[in-house]
Amino acid sequence: MGAAKALTAPQILARKGGERLVTVTCYDATFARLVEASGVDLVLVGDSLGMVIQGQASTLPVTLDDVVYHTRCVARGLTRTHLVADMPFLTYQVNDEEALRNAGRLVVEGGAHAVKLEGGERSAPAIRRIVDAGIPVMGHLGLTPQSVHQFGGHKVQGRSEAAAERLLADARAIVDAGCYSVVLESIPAVLAARITAEIPIPTIGIGASAHCDGQVLVIYDLLGLDDGFAPKFLKKYERLSDRVRDALSAYTREVREGTFPDDAHSF
Ligand code: KIV
Repeated sequence: MGAAKALTAPQILARKGGERLVTVTCYDATFARLVEASGVDLVLVGDSLGMVIQGQASTLPVTLDDVVYHTRCVARGLTRTHLVADMPFLTYQVNDEEALRNAGRLVVEGGAHAVKLEGGERSAPAIRRIVDAGIPVMGHLGLTPQSVHQFGGHKVQGRSEAAAERLLADARAIVDAGCYSVVLESIPAVLAARITAEIPIPTIGIGASAHCDGQVLVIYDLLGLDDGFAPKFLKKYERLSDRVRDALSAYTREVREGTFPDDAHSF
């Protein structure tokens, strides 16, 4: 019997309108093994690592080397799960050749099966260049965090009719450029439904309602590791921050009082 094969980009494309695509972010091998055991379809090494791993205020300072490193770590924990790596700010906007070279590093050095990049019409030439070289590209529209300063904060996008039309045009542009899927972030439910109905590739929502073909969340957010982060779109499936604090307090107490290590944990 051969090794288990990872879900491929064409298989994900074929899920359009079918079984919903479950996606989480991941940044290390230990969580990657847990994620794979849970039956998730796709793992994204997101540039959200700037916030949740590095403690930065935004995704902007994340480098390509950072994402290559974390993608390599995650790849070691996966066999069947489709692995997507995020292209950080300024790794695909400067010119299309650089975009291809940088996407290639995420695949060759990181072990990613696909890359994700933000933007619609303006990113279409870079998407086409990367896809033409044989690398699947996932798009990202709506609240694209690398444009946070242009948006004036993390705000819901596409609320006006004009903005909704622009997002639809962006969605069509990245489909034409060759994307096999797209993340829709923080847009109204009716717009998510409209885009999902109109384009032939799976939409993966975050803050974009149940009308998408799939869903993505940041793993630390859904596990409840940050007490202070509670946006409307987020459902916390656990309160791990409480459990981590409790475990560490118990450890601290037992070491101080001399009850750990006991005989059972000594040689
Ligand atoms: O960086 C990231 O984690 C993302 C997802 C939230 C879609 O882009």
